[in-house]
Amino acid sequence: MASFATRSASQAIRASRRVSGIAAKAALRPAQTASYSLLARAAAAKAAQTPVVHGVRGIKTLDFAGVKETVYERSDWPLAKLQDYFKNDTLALIGYGSQGHGQGLNARDNGLNVIVGVRENGESWRQAIEDGWVPGETLFPIEEAINKGTIIMNLLSDAAQSQTWPKIAPLIVPGKTLYFSHGFSVVYKEDTKVIPPKDVDVILVAPKGSGRTVRTLFKEGRGINSSIAVWQDVTGKAKEKAVAIGVAVGSGYMYETTFEKEVYSDLYGERGVLMGGIQGLFLAQYQVLRKNGHSPSEAFNETVEEATQSLYPLIGQKGMDYMFNACSTTARRGALDWAPIFEKANVPIFEKLYESVKNGTETRKSLEYNSRSTYRQDLAKELAEIDNQEIWRAGKVVRSLRPDYKSDSE
Ligand SMILES: NC(=O)c1ccc[n+]([C@@H]2O[C@H](COP(=O)([O-])OP(=O)(O)OC[C@H]3O[C@@H](n4cnc5c(N)ncnc54)[C@H](OP(=O)(O)O)[C@@H]3O)[C@@H](O)[C@H]2O)c1
Repeated sequence: MASFATRSASQAIRASRRVSGIAAKAALRPAQTASYSLLARAAAAKAAQTPVVHGVRGIKTLDFAGVKETVYERSDWPLAKLQDYFKNDTLALIGYGSQGHGQGLNARDNGLNVIVGVRENGESWRQAIEDGWVPGETLFPIEEAINKGTIIMNLLSDAAQSQTWPKIAPLIVPGKTLYFSHGFSVVYKEDTKVIPPKDVDVILVAPKGSGRTVRTLFKEGRGINSSIAVWQDVTGKAKEKAVAIGVAVGSGYMYETTFEKEVYSDLYGERGVLMGGIQGLFLAQYQVLRKNGHSPSEAFNETVEEATQSLYPLIGQKGMDYMFNACSTTARRGALDWAPIFEKANVPIFEKLYESVKNGTETRKSLEYNSRSTYRQDLAKELAEIDNQEIWRAGKVVRSLRPDYKSDSE
């Protein structure tokens, strides 16, 4: 369904583009040729000489399998318009984890004025210097960066957002905008104590992927899908600003939602099919194969390798029906019979998971765990345990036989 929706979305966007924007398109064409990629920096100088056109070609309301939703697209924001929109702003990225890295470098490559604020001499400080941020010029301790910025992009870990809030809150003064990439801190305010001041815009752009993907898609000239939302609109421009920043940090299409919906779906998805569920399902299938005498390589190939290398990419490209059609009649028959059995068995687990997200249990666990001073070491230990499971040790050997093999450390 998801990929069908995506397909209809891009078809509809293409169609609406054809109909709605002919005149505006002609006006926007010179700036639109500038790409949102690494080349954008070079293009920035050229774009500065290009006449700025603030043409809005309209919001796209698309029909997603019978439900109308609003989608914003990057092509409404040619580089020159984007740079003009933020010409008086300093984007202060607070935190330099995966999202800080991806969003920060993309906004910088788009020619915007970006600075980074992180703990001095921590891991992120070192990483930021490696990426070309310069101490005292574009890299500052957190509080200094907030004072210098107009758009405060809080990209600390969710636990750190809560821990540092007492120091950060007084610095978010009128005129600044507060930005998040997750609804976590403000939606679960009873637990996090993050309560934004009433007199600033509070917005969200949540890329639907790791910060590394935010960066690689941008470098390829593509854009990641992101959710956008407004928590507080003081200036009347909060939504427009969210869309513009979404474009600045590397989004291609932006889907409108609320802070609450974003955080519920995100916590649910990552615990479910995206990460927790898939590790659990892979492991369960592998264990039963091993118990029944199958070798590690056979169990791994039949569980992970074929999924990730052959079948899941087909789902990603053209949908579940396409993947089914690409398989044998024997496989199709069995999969059609077993899918509803898995669905039925799993719905109660997903119900339980959604409730655990909604009632804040997941948030409290995450805050407790990630607020420990040893959070990096604790996490490394648990991940090492996964890495040491037989399934993933077998996987390393299988991967090493691929023609394009690169060692995991490369
Ligand atoms: N990663 C994703 O896939 C993803 C996707 C969409 C949205 N998001 C959201 O984006 C935001 C950032 O996530 P992320 O994954 O990029 O970062 P992260 O890895 O969760 O956080 C890393 C940053 O937090 C800092 N930090 C941790 N504890 C701190 C403390 N006590 N005081 C000061 N700084 C502290 C780290 O600095 P040090 O190096 O100094 O420890 C580092 O700069 C979160 O709201 C997250 O939910 C993430």
